[in-house]
Amino acid sequence: MHLKQYFAFLAVAVPAAIPFASATFWIFGGTRPIVDTRIDSVISPGVVSSHLHSVAGGSRFSATYNYDDLITSQCSTIVVPTDKSNYWTPKLYYRDLNANTFTPIPNSFNIYYLARPGPNNDKVHAFPTGLRMLAGDPLRRVNNGSNHADQAISYVCLDYNNNHSGDPDWAERPDFFPHQCPDGMRAQVFFPTCWDGVNLDSADHKSHMAYPIENFNDGSCPSTHPVKLVSLFYEMFVSVDQFPYAPGAWVWSFGDDTGLGFHGDFVDGWQNKTVLQSALDTCGDVSGILENCPVFEPLINNDAASACKIDGEIVNEPIGTVSSPLAQLPGCNPMWVGTGPKPTCNPPRATPGFINPQNPLPSGWTEVACIAEGTTGRALTAASTTNSSMTKPLCANYCAGLGYKLAGVEYGDECYCGNTLVNGANSTARTWYECSVTCAGNPNENCGGPMRLNLLQKN
Ligand SMILES: *[C@@H]1O[C@H](CO)[C@@H](O)[C@H](O)[C@H]1NC(C)=O
Ligand SMILES: *[C@@H]1O[C@H](CO)[C@@H](O)[C@H](O)[C@H]1NC(C)=O
Ligand SMILES: *[C@@H]1O[C@H](CO)[C@@H](O)[C@H](O)[C@H]1NC(C)=O
Ligand SMILES: *[C@@H]1O[C@H](CO)[C@@H](O)[C@H](O)[C@H]1NC(C)=O
Ligand SMILES: *[C@@H]1O[C@H](CO)[C@@H](O)[C@H](O)[C@H]1NC(C)=O
Repeated sequence: MHLKQYFAFLAVAVPAAIPFASATFWIFGGTRPIVDTRIDSVISPGVVSSHLHSVAGGSRFSATYNYDDLITSQCSTIVVPTDKSNYWTPKLYYRDLNANTFTPIPNSFNIYYLARPGPNNDKVHAFPTGLRMLAGDPLRRVNNGSNHADQAISYVCLDYNNNHSGDPDWAERPDFFPHQCPDGMRAQVFFPTCWDGVNLDSADHKSHMAYPIENFNDGSCPSTHPVKLVSLFYEMFVSVDQFPYAPGAWVWSFGDDTGLGFHGDFVDGWQNKTVLQSALDTCGDVSGILENCPVFEPLINNDAASACKIDGEIVNEPIGTVSSPLAQLPGCNPMWVGTGPKPTCNPPRATPGFINPQNPLPSGWTEVACIAEGTTGRALTAASTTNSSMTKPLCANYCAGLGYKLAGVEYGDECYCGNTLVNGANSTARTWYECSVTCAGNPNENCGGPMRLNLLQKN
């Protein structure tokens, strides 16, 4: 996210209504998704989900996993690496009403952690290990303004150049705005903060949690759900301004063009709960700036977060791009207009399978490490190519085809071959995230970095 956006968020974005003592919070700001895919391991474990999601956090995201699996994530798109949690929402599509095509709209997340002790000054607890929860409902077709669960879903329309204060057409609302948002839109979901103290999940993924008595975003916990947890709030920032506005052009991945069905999922993957609990207990910062929290400040690793790629699984289907928009939304999600039941697909659509997001290397090849280029010239000089479809296996195959046993990918689209490292290069491993540039041919794989190669070797 651009700094301008980030600071604008900080200035205006604290969830409204803090009737009780204002308290510690921090924002994992501008968090990018690790993947957009049709998986929801909370609602649809083990199978392809009904609709596409945009997922942030730990790299081990998959259709089937538990806490112990998730904390084996190599990395996270959250800048505090001990947080391997997954945070997700549906994906927003732009519907071209003339061509009747669908293009996914880029998004990022501001993930708020708010320690709100409420009127009884409750102790605010870290998530119990492995907690899962859902807020919002993709099947919702009406808004009940007096229900906390409905109040927890909202939209904000951003326009940094005009003051729309007091204008009802621009006020925060429960559904999509009927006009363009010149600096993008925020889709927001506030999670319930009161836990039953026993269950890490429940059949509806909601009833083990409850909203506070007084407000959806602050208050005291009901006796059925007596344990006050840290409050979780997602702002999904969606770049709707990159597309021309038209009524009905914004469509959630399940076919909803009202916005009422927005929802968020959370799976706890905090590796070291002491870090989270001591941040809640001691940060003391009420401006949301992560770096101001002494517990987090030494842990922050922006380079690892930005280099992080998914190492779980993805669904084998196109999700659309600007140059290749989809004729229909992934899954069975015809446009769902009005308050009637969700339409079905006729004929039904085949369900794709799961694939490894990283392309496997050809047989006999292994990855050595992320290494530095030579000091007096290139590390591998026998042959080279660049290719806009570059991946690690493409490079290995290219070098193997020329009879070489070493291959190195660099800077996204370059491939070098040889039988020995030359020009002062050696195979000493650098930190993995120095090889941070996305492969030109696979958004879920890194191909070296600036002056860094992922070295591949034929056994
Ligand atoms: C709206 O929500 C309130 C509070 O949960 C509830 O009492 C009421 O029955 C709901 N109204 C409708 C029409 O569902
Ligand atoms: C925006 O407009 C409101 C109401 O007209 C006014 O109170 C407020 O001071 C304005 N804010 C800025 C930053 O100009
Ligand atoms: C967890 O974090 C705490 C506080 O930063 C630290 O003292 C402790 O060593 C960490 N535990 C592990 C297992 O890393
Ligand atoms: C890129 O790689 C593909 C697959 O190996 C190959 O067919 C194509 O010719 C290559 N393009 C260039 C410009 O080398
Ligand atoms: C490997 O190369 C680096 C420079 O890229 C150098 O600092 C290091 O000493 C070399 N290691 C060995 C074992 O030669």
